[in-house]
Amino acid sequence: MNRGSDSLLLFGATGDLAQRMLLPSLCALHADKLVAEDLRIIGTARQDMDDAGYRNFARAALEKFLPAERRGGMGTFLNRLHYQPLDATDQAGFTTLAKKVGPIDEGLAIFLSTAPALFEPTIAGLAASGLASDKARIGLEKPLGTDLETSRQINDAVASAFREEQIFRIDHYLGKETVQNLLALRFANILFEPLWNAAHIDHVQITVAETVGLESRVGYYDGSGALRDMVQNHMLQLLALVAMEPPSSFDATAVRDEKVKVLRSLRLVGPDETVTGQYRAGAIGGQAVPGYDEELGKDSDTETFVAIKAHLDNWRWKGVPFYLRTGKRLPTRRTEIVVQFRRVPHSIFAGKGARSEPNRLVIGIQPEENITLSLMAKVPGLDREGLRLREVPLDIRMQDAFAGPTKRIAYERLLLDLIEGDQTLFVRRDEVEAQWDWIDAIRASWGEHGVTPKPYTAGTWGPSAAIALTERDGVHWHE
Ligand code: BG6
Repeated sequence: MNRGSDSLLLFGATGDLAQRMLLPSLCALHADKLVAEDLRIIGTARQDMDDAGYRNFARAALEKFLPAERRGGMGTFLNRLHYQPLDATDQAGFTTLAKKVGPIDEGLAIFLSTAPALFEPTIAGLAASGLASDKARIGLEKPLGTDLETSRQINDAVASAFREEQIFRIDHYLGKETVQNLLALRFANILFEPLWNAAHIDHVQITVAETVGLESRVGYYDGSGALRDMVQNHMLQLLALVAMEPPSSFDATAVRDEKVKVLRSLRLVGPDETVTGQYRAGAIGGQAVPGYDEELGKDSDTETFVAIKAHLDNWRWKGVPFYLRTGKRLPTRRTEIVVQFRRVPHSIFAGKGARSEPNRLVIGIQPEENITLSLMAKVPGLDREGLRLREVPLDIRMQDAFAGPTKRIAYERLLLDLIEGDQTLFVRRDEVEAQWDWIDAIRASWGEHGVTPKPYTAGTWGPSAAIALTERDGVHWHE
């Protein structure tokens, strides 16, 4: 086993992410013996607690958020946990923290899951106390800024204490199995790559639909909106993985070099190529839900839905639209990528029932992980009026194809990679900055044209303008 780190230092150890994702992921890794036996996990946050107090806190989080069947190793896992109260703006506290961490033999993994305002003082404290040594690596949770400028400030602050090879910017979508499977599908099969270009692909759709509303994130979400919360990071990463050139290896530099080229070839989007929306009261799955303003308790112009027609200015994708849409309070929770191929150039079959539909590859990322390729097939029978065709799916359900392996939390993969030091599934600085560059231009254009979100009823697929965005190109959103 690559031991990688002696300790994992968790900032924001009492926060929502720690409770829901990080502690459950670490406990699961421990139960599966995927981390070294002597790895210590040291939590820090403002709250005053000792090790025993934090173990109780963690136990409660695990009982709530980790399925019972994965809690096998919980007792011994809790013994790994330590805690040091820390006010990140009080630099003296870092000296005490460094003592608690003790000498570092192989490496120190640091994970920052705090309010972005604490990033800079935390990094200064880490640097001054010697914790930001050459043996450390640091994981950064979003949001990494609210635009290019603020993201640069954060990146500069981190770069003042850590080299880029030590910095692990998290996009939890990259930790999802099916997202990684996209690379296997594209680059471990000969079938797709020759067709994966403008000559054979008509358009691509990427949908990230959520049924949840604001949840408990009022302050953060209203200052962000769907474009910055979902498109800037997760959706652009998905787009980059779909559109990138084959990297020469599955190595951090090779993969990220190719992704950044895609992000840099995103064309500026015009105001008629985006649609924004905000949900009003409606119903989801038969349950009445309030509108965004009501949940928020005030009027707001923040978009909870966005659809974009994006283009990549490069040889491979010239003229191929990438339709992106994401929203809260949509009818169903679904993340999928649809690759719509072109029609056959000429049909040899005559007759009414012989129209051939273009092939379509649907990659379901969640909640179901599946890959479906629609093919045209002959309808069985002795057709007197000519051969009839019908679309049939070639369907792979990952759960059936790979019965057995446990469904893992995306953070299990990412935490393990942080502990062991593999950057392939983390976002490099130039990627984040290319993402913000494109997003800032969209926001500037909204400002210039006075774009405000159109209302949509919760439980529908966004404002009707989002349907029109594709329909005017003769394209239907996949449903
Ligand atoms: C987060 C966003 O990054 O991703 C949330 O801030 C969103 O608003 C979440 O709900 C979606 O993640 P997942 O893994 O549930 O698709």
